[in-house]
Amino acid sequence: MQLHNRTFLLFGGTGGIGKALVEPLLNAGARVIIATRQAEYPKQRPGVQYVRLDLGSKDLDGQLQQLSQQHPEIDGVIHCAGQNHFASLKDMSVEALDDQLTVNLRSAMLVARHFVPRFSNAGAGALVFVGSTFGSIGFPGYTAYCASKFGLRGFSEALRRELADTPVQVIYVAPRATATAMNPEAVNELNQALGNTMDPPEKVAGAILEAMQKDEKRRFLGWPEKLFVVINGVLPRIVDKAMLKQLPVIRRFLDSGVTS
Ligand SMILES: NC(=O)c1ccc[n+]([C@@H]2O[C@H](COP(=O)([O-])OP(=O)(O)OC[C@H]3O[C@@H](n4cnc5c(N)ncnc54)[C@H](OP(=O)(O)O)[C@@H]3O)[C@@H](O)[C@H]2O)c1
Repeated sequence: MQLHNRTFLLFGGTGGIGKALVEPLLNAGARVIIATRQAEYPKQRPGVQYVRLDLGSKDLDGQLQQLSQQHPEIDGVIHCAGQNHFASLKDMSVEALDDQLTVNLRSAMLVARHFVPRFSNAGAGALVFVGSTFGSIGFPGYTAYCASKFGLRGFSEALRRELADTPVQVIYVAPRATATAMNPEAVNELNQALGNTMDPPEKVAGAILEAMQKDEKRRFLGWPEKLFVVINGVLPRIVDKAMLKQLPVIRRFLDSGVTS
């Protein structure tokens, strides 16, 4: 897709990966409207606007309608917001569980539900969803996050196929571990202990932009993570065994009490 002269509504534009998306989008000639829960916005700059919105709100649909009326110029949406709590299921609060399902999955569905008719009528539009490697591989300590991201991947796929005869594009990009504030120190240490690479957010943002520019339907980031995604799909027992070996290390961090 061409990014020049497009206006993207960016969810998660105040976070690690989303923030790193802004500059390349502007450089490509796009404008960005960043939706955030925060009451105070960073300093204004040309091409960037901020709007207040809570993806976790019960009344998200109403908030989207209001936003949409105020900004009829939006012709693309990038959903790069997310919540993540690393904890054993038994230790996860109901609130944390709800937050992950609501922000990572329900909100993406409501956002798409709102913008699809608008983009269809306009004859163009793009919906970009940022998923995760954990949307394809179940990982201990991430039961709720994995459930939400597996859901997001399934939703994106079904929606893309539902809209295949329309001008609306649906793109799913799945980063591997990325060095942002989403991951508490315990998770950084766990990744180090397991030898997992953490990408800088700028690299991930570059890959998201490239997937958009090349009109890719889906992109999985990182090697060997993208290989494990395939193996887990066809021979999950191999990944079961690999993770069983890693479990004592993962459990050490889960049981340390310093998870988010
Ligand atoms: N970091 C990783 O290791 C990693 C790996 C794979 C995939 N991902 C995915 O990449 C995306 C971006 O992650 P990140 O690492 O950049 O996260 P981050 O630095 O923690 O930022 C989270 C972003 O989500 C927004 N957000 C959270 N709850 C929200 C809500 N209720 N309403 C509106 N916005 C909300 C925050 O905005 P405000 O606080 O301003 O409202 C913030 O911009 C997420 O979907 C994440 O699951 C991350």
